[in-house]
Amino acid sequence: MTSSLIDEQSKLVVYKPTIHQRQKNKISIMYIIKIILMIPIWTTILALDPFSITGSIIVGTGMYYFKDSLTCMVKECCHDHTSNKWIANRLKWSDLPEEIFGQHIAVSVVSNLVYFHLRNPNPPKPLVLSFHGFTGVGKTHLSDLLAKRIYRQYNETGSSKFVHKYTATHLNKESQLSMLVENIFEKLEACDRSLIIIDEIDKLPEKYLDILLPYLDHSSPYKKSIFIFLGNSAGSNINNEVVHLLNSGKAREDIEYDDLENVVTNNAVKVGGLKNSELITRGVIDLFVPFLPLSKHHIRQCVADNLRRQHEFPDPFINPGSKFIDKVTDSIEFKDDEFSVFGCKRVSSKVAILLARKNRL
Ligand SMILES: *[C@@H]1O[C@H](CO)[C@@H](O)[C@H](O)[C@H]1NC(C)=O
Repeated sequence: MTSSLIDEQSKLVVYKPTIHQRQKNKISIMYIIKIILMIPIWTTILALDPFSITGSIIVGTGMYYFKDSLTCMVKECCHDHTSNKWIANRLKWSDLPEEIFGQHIAVSVVSNLVYFHLRNPNPPKPLVLSFHGFTGVGKTHLSDLLAKRIYRQYNETGSSKFVHKYTATHLNKESQLSMLVENIFEKLEACDRSLIIIDEIDKLPEKYLDILLPYLDHSSPYKKSIFIFLGNSAGSNINNEVVHLLNSGKAREDIEYDDLENVVTNNAVKVGGLKNSELITRGVIDLFVPFLPLSKHHIRQCVADNLRRQHEFPDPFINPGSKFIDKVTDSIEFKDDEFSVFGCKRVSSKVAILLARKNRL
């Protein structure tokens, strides 16, 4: 049951320390520190030098008080005073637009809110964001980019003790839901600077997310955490509104959050876990983030990016060349010749297939 509600990523990192284990961990660290402390104490006692005794007691006491910091030097940890090593509290976003295509609104609103949330040592409540848009347009990708920028370990290894992803699709029994909540509670208890990502919330039964309310509102004991919900709901409404704005003569880059705010906010709550939800009536969701549909231009960018990252072509427009990029783009399905039906989702398999075919010729 647990495996169906927790994705591959967190299956690998699920760590459920019992109280007993936690104490054991503590004891073993204490034990090592004690042994280290004992060495100078005994050598100085044997040498009967009262000044060195005082010195080693001072050093020893110091080491005892800084043992958390010492552990944090080598192991991913959550302590605030050292968090900048493992958990960034000031982020640089300048390179973000180069890694995600066609989402200028999402990138700008999300990076702003996350930036201020991380900087704040005492945020009033957890940051709760809800990403909406068609499949493949970058919702998962942006949450992944955020995780990489905030958590060093995630950037380096693809997993972190403080990044947890869940897929809501299988949560249709009360027991699975309470397991999810218990799991989230444990993660937050271990570190409140955690990032919790819940995918496919539009597939959840109505009101199912309400169980999270105590973790999300102003009374939450874990106010430093960040929650991100992902869902396809409101996707077609956003697309229609974008078409409408483009037809009325607005350039895509000039579309602003305000232009889409009502469309995303009103339609996101019409289906799935957010329908009739107390999360809405209590206003715990800080922002509904619209993701725009992707046009041919963005798919070309995705293709080039894929060639660069996955296939190590430093300049894909020269080699394998723009003709090849066009060919991949032409193999992608577009609705009304305008927006990609699956966003960038099928780009990587199309690139692989067409590259293999090209190499065979
Ligand atoms: C993430 O890792 C890459 C390469 O491993 C590095 O260039 C980049 O600076 C890292 N980013 C952060 C935010 O640590």
